[in-house]
Amino acid sequence: MASSLKLAGLASLAVLSCPVAGTKTHAHSNHALKTFNETVGGRVQPLPPFSLPCFSNYNGQPVVRDDAVCTAIQANYSDPWLRTNSPNGYMNNQAEMWASDPSDQCLLDDSDPADPLAYVNATCQQGNVPSHYLEVQSPKDVIEAFRFSRHHGKRLVIKNSGHDYLTRSSGRDSLSLWMRNLRSMHYNPAFVPHGCNEDADKYNAITVGAGVNFDEVYAFAQQYNVTILGGYSPTVGVSGGWVQNGGHSILSPVYGLGVDRVLEFKVVTPDGVYRTANEFQNADLFWALRGGGGGTFGVVLESTHRVEPAVRFVSANIKFPSTSTNMLPFMDIVINNTLKWAREGWGGHITGNTLVNISPLLSADEAKTSLADVIAYAEANGGSAIIEEFTSWYPFYEKYVTTSSVAVGVTRFPGSRLIPRSVFETIEGRADLMAFFTLIQSIGQTPYIPVVGPVLYKYTEGSTSAAPAWRDAVWELGSGASWSWNSTLPTRIQKIGTIQNMTAVIEGITPGSGAYSNEANPFTINWREAWWGDNYEKLVRIKHRYDPHGLLSCWKCIGWEESQAATSSFAALL
Ligand SMILES: Cc1cc2nc3c(=O)[nH]c(=O)nc-3n(C[C@H](O)[C@H](O)[C@H](O)COP(=O)(O)OP(=O)(O)OC[C@H]3O[C@@H](n4cnc5c(N)ncnc54)[C@H](O)[C@@H]3O)c2cc1C
Ligand SMILES: *[C@@H]1O[C@H](CO)[C@@H](O)[C@H](O)[C@H]1NC(C)=O
Ligand SMILES: *[C@@H]1O[C@H](CO)[C@@H](O)[C@H](O)[C@H]1NC(C)=O
Ligand SMILES: *[C@@H]1O[C@H](CO)[C@@H](O)[C@H](O)[C@H]1NC(C)=O
Ligand SMILES: *[C@@H]1O[C@H](CO)[C@@H](O)[C@H](O)[C@H]1NC(C)=O
Ligand SMILES: *[C@@H]1O[C@H](CO)[C@@H](O)[C@H](O)[C@H]1NC(C)=O
Ligand SMILES: *[C@@H]1O[C@H](CO)[C@@H](O)[C@H](O)[C@H]1NC(C)=O
Ligand SMILES: *[C@@H]1O[C@H](CO)[C@@H](O)[C@H](O)[C@H]1NC(C)=O
Repeated sequence: MASSLKLAGLASLAVLSCPVAGTKTHAHSNHALKTFNETVGGRVQPLPPFSLPCFSNYNGQPVVRDDAVCTAIQANYSDPWLRTNSPNGYMNNQAEMWASDPSDQCLLDDSDPADPLAYVNATCQQGNVPSHYLEVQSPKDVIEAFRFSRHHGKRLVIKNSGHDYLTRSSGRDSLSLWMRNLRSMHYNPAFVPHGCNEDADKYNAITVGAGVNFDEVYAFAQQYNVTILGGYSPTVGVSGGWVQNGGHSILSPVYGLGVDRVLEFKVVTPDGVYRTANEFQNADLFWALRGGGGGTFGVVLESTHRVEPAVRFVSANIKFPSTSTNMLPFMDIVINNTLKWAREGWGGHITGNTLVNISPLLSADEAKTSLADVIAYAEANGGSAIIEEFTSWYPFYEKYVTTSSVAVGVTRFPGSRLIPRSVFETIEGRADLMAFFTLIQSIGQTPYIPVVGPVLYKYTEGSTSAAPAWRDAVWELGSGASWSWNSTLPTRIQKIGTIQNMTAVIEGITPGSGAYSNEANPFTINWREAWWGDNYEKLVRIKHRYDPHGLLSCWKCIGWEESQAATSSFAALL
């Protein structure tokens, strides 16, 4: 908080240095901002980049470095908690940087955050960080923000946990609606969606405020001895981009995706109305929020999710030291067993030398039999296999999920594709996958496979708007690319080229399938078809119904147009 107070002064400095021609507009918009600020109790704040306290120059103006705050940032640069709890903290650097201009960013050296090369004699530039933020406390805050945006042209973005890989929770010159502090949680063993008649079904459910993350809701569910499905990450949010785009869990093979389990949203739509969306009220909006994407149809204030009685399951933790030759034979075994494992309820993550999967359908003995080939392979390669039983999710979460965090504070782009059952059914399909792993190996990457397709879940056709490809998918198969904090523009362009080529290869193996936009190649060309398929046109109509003035817009979200790429942070990379 001390740093935001200090920065209020800096923002006015930046305004004073604007060219004279802009003065009138700025005086006008400053007045509008001031009025808006008053309607929300003075909670609109300027938003400097996360690492500014380490720098002595901000947007070309000298500033006083804050040694103490900088030291804390350096110490926790790769800690998702510090980032998720800060309005300007994003997990992936592409959210913060102006990717098309390597000088327009405010980053430390993630390989060594104490490296003075990054911040001594360097300028902290605003990059793609919003200019202001409002810590949302009530629906009224959001209604006022939409009014302000509509009348004064200020772009809005919604920032919850800051995990989005596609830069959809940040944006230059925007006002960020920061959701993280809406932390209510309620358990209701007999939840009835609002507005439906009394003899309607009752659900065992948890309702959370928009800012609640998985760490918090998993602990809460444990107190009530129930299981809520969620991501393999403590800090991803429950109500934002995760559920609104699909939301996978390692329990999804048996219990469905996040969109299958959500029962109700409370949401302020861009037309300024606070609504309840469920199967009975605003059913079109509810359908759109079940897979049509975050940051598109409104600002969700809370969401309600169906929960299960404590789920008992068996887990397998299999790993072996990797060599230059032992990945491909492992993948061969994995590919040949995938359909059998899918029938047995296994979900989890597989890499080139690890498999951490769980199944709620098997006993420990059945699990050992099921995985015998990989257990033998791991042991023959100097590795180990641990089969355990858990009587609920939380101890597994604490033991495995909290200790396997994906690196943050880096620039990393995903590039995954949903792999349908049919690929595993033919010799050609399995050979194509092996060829893909061979290619991955040749460019120094390792396979990354979330086994999260909802294969055994009894889906009601048409009930959600997430990629139809999910319904045939067994795997999400990952690839991706990273660049270093000080990479040059040619390096960045080359890296994007790599992801494009990899995507083309997996698309070639899976014609007619699609991808999970949260973890897809952000530069996917046929993104409408790949991410939403036949749902796209209907989603656009719903978008126009609730957002007639186009106040919400994000990268390759419903209604986005290619022409917008020219003014985006990615413009020079395309
Ligand atoms: C380390 C890591 C682990 C991950 N693990 C998983 C996983 O196990 N399973 C999985 O399915 N995905 C996973 N993801 C992907 C994750 O689902 C997406 O990054 C998702 O966008 C995160 O949503 P968020 O709301 O937490 O993040 P944010 O970046 O804050 O927001 C993401 C998007 O949602 C919108 N949004 C946020 N809040 C709201 C709201 N209240 N109302 C309307 N729109 C909103 C934003 O505008 C933005 O478009 C992971 C990502 C990372 C970086
Ligand atoms: C909003 O008002 C508060 C209280 O007056 C003030 O501290 C803050 O700086 C204002 N925000 C902006 C962006 O001017
Ligand atoms: C920084 O991380 C340490 C542990 O590494 C933790 O004790 C501390 O609370 C964190 N600080 C912040 C501000 O998150
Ligand atoms: C910063 O600039 C000063 C003066 O030019 C120079 O002496 C110093 O070595 C520079 N430091 C770094 C880390 O670049
Ligand atoms: C938790 O729920 C499970 C499954 O319903 C039940 O078997 C168990 O007895 C419950 N435990 C407690 C402590 O209530
Ligand atoms: C996997 O199946 C293929 C045929 O599709 C076969 O050639 C190969 O030997 C099998 N691999 C293993 C490890 O069983
Ligand atoms: C980028 O930073 C690394 C340290 O992280 C350094 O070794 C390298 O020389 C830097 N590259 C350029 C082009 O400055
Ligand atoms: C991508 O593939 C094209 C066509 O095969 C090739 O010319 C190009 O060099 C590749 N780019 C990268 C970055 O690998």
